[in-house]
Parts: sequence; C-alpha cells; structure tokens
Amino acid sequence: MTLLVEQERNGALLAWYRAEQRSFPWRGESDPYKILVSEVMLQQTQASRVIPFYERFVDSFPTAADLASADLRDVLAFWTGLGYNSRALRLRETARIVSRDGWPTTTAGLVELPGIGPYTAAAVASFAFGRRVATVDTNMRRVLSRWHGESLSGPALRTVAADDLGDPAAEWNQAVMDLGATRCLPRNPDCAGCPVCQWCVGPDSYRPPTPQGRFEGSARQLRGAIVRSLVGGAATEQEIARQTGFPAKDVKSALADLSDEGLVTVDGEGTYRIAE
Ligand code: ADE
Repeated sequence: MTLLVEQERNGALLAWYRAEQRSFPWRGESDPYKILVSEVMLQQTQASRVIPFYERFVDSFPTAADLASADLRDVLAFWTGLGYNSRALRLRETARIVSRDGWPTTTAGLVELPGIGPYTAAAVASFAFGRRVATVDTNMRRVLSRWHGESLSGPALRTVAADDLGDPAAEWNQAVMDLGATRCLPRNPDCAGCPVCQWCVGPDSYRPPTPQGRFEGSARQLRGAIVRSLVGGAATEQEIARQTGFPAKDVKSALADLSDEGLVTVDGEGTYRIAE
C-alpha cells in the first residue's frame, strides 16, 4: 500500500466522520475516568444501550475518587441491566488505584490496571491522553481486513492498524468505529454508502465469527438475575433460586463463580450478599 493511498483514504474517512459522526455523551470527553467508564460499558454492550447507563453512572459517581469510595451494592445498582457485572467490580478497583497513584498515560501503563485489556488501554491512551495508538477491536479488524483484502489477526493486524492510523489518532479511531457500526457492517455492508470504498478491496475477505451460543447466553442471564436479586437484599441459595426461577444446582454453581470473582460473599448461615 502506498503512502498516498493511505493519505487519501484517511482524508476521505475523516471528512466523512466530521460530517456524519454519531453523537454520544462520551465523545469529546477528555477526562480519563469518564472515558474509561464508557469504554468498559461498551466492551460487551451496544453503544445505543450504553448511553442511559453511562449518564446515570457518571452522575452518581462523577470522579474516580467517588467510585473508589462507593459501596459495591450501590455501584451494581447502577450497573445491572448492562450485564457482565464483574466489570463494575474491576472498574472500582481501578478507580481505587488511580485515586491513590494517579493515571498511567501510556497503553503499556494502562493495561496493567484491573479490567483493562489492550483495546481499552489504547482507547483511554488515545482519547484522554492523545497518544498515537490504534484502538484495535473486532470492528476495526473487520474494517481493516476488508480494506486490505485479507482476514487480519494477531501481530499482522496490529502492524496494519499502526501503519494505517491517521491523524489525529483519536478522531481516526472513532471514525473507524463509526464506519464499522454504520457502513462496514458484519453481514450486510453498505459499500454504496461507504466514504472509502474506492480504497477498499471489498467485504468478502472477512467472515464474521459465529454469534454467542445459547448456553453462554443463559449462564450470563442467570448471573445477572442473581446479582439483581442480591442488590435488592441478602438471600440464601434457595431464596435466590425461587426469586430467579433458575434450577438450584445452576444457582449453586453460579454463586460459587460469583464468590470466586469477589462479587458476592457468603456468611456462616449460607446467606449471600454483594461484597463490600
Ligand atoms: N465502542 C467502543 N468505544 C466506542 C466509542 N468511543 N464510540 C462509539 N462506539 C464505541
């Protein structure tokens, strides 16, 4: 790929983004804490669903220090409905660390924090700290694979992303996200409406992974139902099984997992509650 192609493609992409970008409450935000909250919420959840959760959460816990000192039960009360509740626990751990030690400002420093993987570290480094790093996730993978006409992954994907990265990086990253969400869709890409189709090999080189299996979905539902029940108040295994309507043996094993992860605790009487 010549440099000229990349420049032209990035120019067209950024012009499109400046005209058509989606509006989100975390766009244009430079507070690393608020960016982190949004990115952690966005990890497994569609952006349009995240908006009201994000707004309530940052209203209730406006700073890392506020979240650091909050009860887990209060934190989870604002989180349930989003799912993957252990994300909230790790977010509070990170809030405690950065309130005490300050924020790392590089991807390498950020990735050391609880609950922050390479994608989220890159997002905070790019959006909050202006670092020139690409936010490589499955959407960017799909877009870049199609641009280049090969199914990219691993180190090859990271190299291509670093080479293609435009300027300013934060804007380019979000432009690729919007392209992936509104034009370069997994199954029905809208190539006719794509601002960079003339610099793209085409959609056939990338096949989307198969959707999450039914079993995984229902295990996640059960975990969510247990956490919601315990946010309402402490309960025994039997009470939880009755409240949630799930079989007792499934409740038992989900409670064991949630305890291992530090989300719930159990006392000597067999009463479960949200951890402190
Ligand atoms: N998905 C993950 N991060 C996002 C962001 N900053 N904007 C829109 N969608 C996203």
